[in-house]
Amino acid sequence: MSELTDSAEWKALKKHFNSMSHVHMRDLFDENPERFKQFSVGLNDILLDFSKNRITDETFKLLMDLASFSQVEQSRTHMFAGENMNCTEFRPALHIALRNRSNKPVMVDGKDVMPKINAVLAKMRDFSERVRSGQLRGYNGRRIRSIVNIGIGGSDLGPHVVCEAMKPFAQRDLKVHFVSNADATHLVETLKLVEPETTLFVISSKSFTTQETMLNAHSARRWFVDMVGNETAIAKHFVAVSTNLEATTKFGIDSENVFEFWDWVGGRYSLWSAIGLPIALYIGMDHFEAMLQGAHEMDQHFETAPLDQNMPVILAMLGIWYNNFFDAQSHAIMPYSQYLERLPAYLQQLDMESNGKTIDRENQRVNYLTGPIIWGQSGTNGQHAFFQLLHQGTKPVPADFLIPALSQNPLGLHHRVLFSNCLAQTKALMLGKKYTEALEEMQAAGISPDEIDDAIEHKVFEGNKPTNTIIFERLDPKTLGSIMAMYEHKIFVQGIVWNINSFDQWGVEYGKVLAGEIQQDLAQPGDVSKHDSSTNGLVNYRKKVYFDDEFGKKHD
Ligand code: F6P
Repeated sequence: MSELTDSAEWKALKKHFNSMSHVHMRDLFDENPERFKQFSVGLNDILLDFSKNRITDETFKLLMDLASFSQVEQSRTHMFAGENMNCTEFRPALHIALRNRSNKPVMVDGKDVMPKINAVLAKMRDFSERVRSGQLRGYNGRRIRSIVNIGIGGSDLGPHVVCEAMKPFAQRDLKVHFVSNADATHLVETLKLVEPETTLFVISSKSFTTQETMLNAHSARRWFVDMVGNETAIAKHFVAVSTNLEATTKFGIDSENVFEFWDWVGGRYSLWSAIGLPIALYIGMDHFEAMLQGAHEMDQHFETAPLDQNMPVILAMLGIWYNNFFDAQSHAIMPYSQYLERLPAYLQQLDMESNGKTIDRENQRVNYLTGPIIWGQSGTNGQHAFFQLLHQGTKPVPADFLIPALSQNPLGLHHRVLFSNCLAQTKALMLGKKYTEALEEMQAAGISPDEIDDAIEHKVFEGNKPTNTIIFERLDPKTLGSIMAMYEHKIFVQGIVWNINSFDQWGVEYGKVLAGEIQQDLAQPGDVSKHDSSTNGLVNYRKKVYFDDEFGKKHD
C-alpha cells in the first residue's frame, strides 16, 4: 500500500465512487438547475465548463481534499521558487520563468535568471525583426522567404502547434516548415518546397546531440552547400537554438547565430524559450510576447487561485477521478478549431512523456495508474471517425472539447455549424438516449413493431460520458498561451498527486541507446545473433536485402 492509496482521502474517494458509479449525469442536471454555474470557472476570456462530469458537491470536495493531502499547494510553491522538482536530473523545472512578464527575480543556484532570459528575448526580437523586414537577407541578397525548423519532440511539437494555430497572425510571405523525422522523406520533401538562397534553417535541439536532429541538420547543410556551392554562405542561412554551445560551435554555427536556453527548461516545456524562435519569425515578436503574457496570466492564476477555483487543479483532479477510480485508460482532446489540429499531438508529448512513469519519488513502484493515453483530433472530423466508440463503445473516454466563440474566418454558417456540433456532442455524450425515447422516435417515424424490436437496443445511448468544455473568445496568441500553460500545470498537479517526477524521460533515453547499437550492427556484414531472436531476425533481414542490393543499387 502506498501513502497515496492508504490515505483517508483516497479511501474516501474509493467509497464515494461506489455510490457514484451508477449515478447518471442526466439526473444530476435535473436535480440542480444551477449546475453549470456551480461547476464552471473562468480566467479572462477562457471559460471552463466542467459541469458535464460525473461529480456532485461531495465528489468535488473529496477531490480537492486529495489535492490538499498530496500537498499540491506546497509543491506549486516549490516549483515557482525554483526548487529541484526534477529529482532524477537534480534540477528545477522553470518554464514559468521564461514567461515571467512581471520580471520579478527567479533564482537558480542563488542567481536571478531573469536578466539572461530577457537578453535572449531581446536577441530573438532583434533577429526576427531583421529577418521579417528584409534587413537581414540571404548570402546573395535575396529576402528570406522560408524558415525550416529542424528539431524533434519538444524542439518541434511546441513551435509547430503554435505556428499552425497562429496562422492568422503570420507574415504570409514567410513560410515555416518543420522537419523532425529521421526518415529522409521528411527532409527531402521539405527541401523540394524551398530555395536555398531564401531559406533560413533553425536547428533546434536542447542537447544538440539528438540523433534525428543531427542527421537532418547535417543533411540539410550538405544540401545547402551542394546547391549554392559556397560554404561561407552557411553563416547567413543556419542558426541554432540550444543549451549546448560547445556542440553548436562544433557544428559550425557562429555564436552570434546561437540562441541559448538552459538545462532547467525541460524539452517539452521549452516553446517559451528560444525554441520559440520559429514562432517569433513567423508571427512576430509582439505576438510571441503576447503568448508569453497569456501563459504568465495562467501561471498567476495557478499560483494564487484556491484549489477549488483553479483551472489546472480542477482539470487535474477530474482526470484523476476517471483515471484512478473509473480506470479510464485514455483522455481525448477535441479541439473544434482547424487551427488547433496539432494540439492533441503536442499534448501527447507534454502529458505522456511527463506522467508515463511507474516509479514514484520515493523510488517505489506505484500501485495505481499514472498518466493516461492522450489522443484526439480536431472536430468535426473526429465525429466521422472515432466518436462512435465514445458514444456506444465499452471503454470510458473522458474528453476535453475546446472551441472559440468567434471564428478567425467568419464565413457564412460555418462557425455556427461547428459550434453546434461541438455542443451537440457533449450534450449527447452526457445525456444519452433512453429506451423510451428511442421507441417514441421510431414509432413516430412509422417503423414497424418487428423492425423496432430488431433495432431498438442499438439506438439506445447510455450517456453519462464525461467531458470538459473549454470555450474562449477567439484563438489569439494570448489565449493560446494561457491554454497551453493550463495544460502544463494540469499535468504538473497530476504528477504531484501520483508522486512521480513529471520532468524526466528515462524511457525515451533507453530507446536512443539501443538504436545506436543496432545502427552499428546494420553497418557490419554478416548475421548478428546477440539480440533476441525477433530483433536478430529483423536485423538480418534488413542486412540481407541491403548487402544483396549493394552490388546493384546501394541505398543508405
Ligand atoms: O523524446 C525525448 C526527448 O528527450 C524530448 O524530451 C525532447 O523534447 C526531444 O527528445 C528532443 O531533444 P533535444 O531538444 O535535446 O534534441
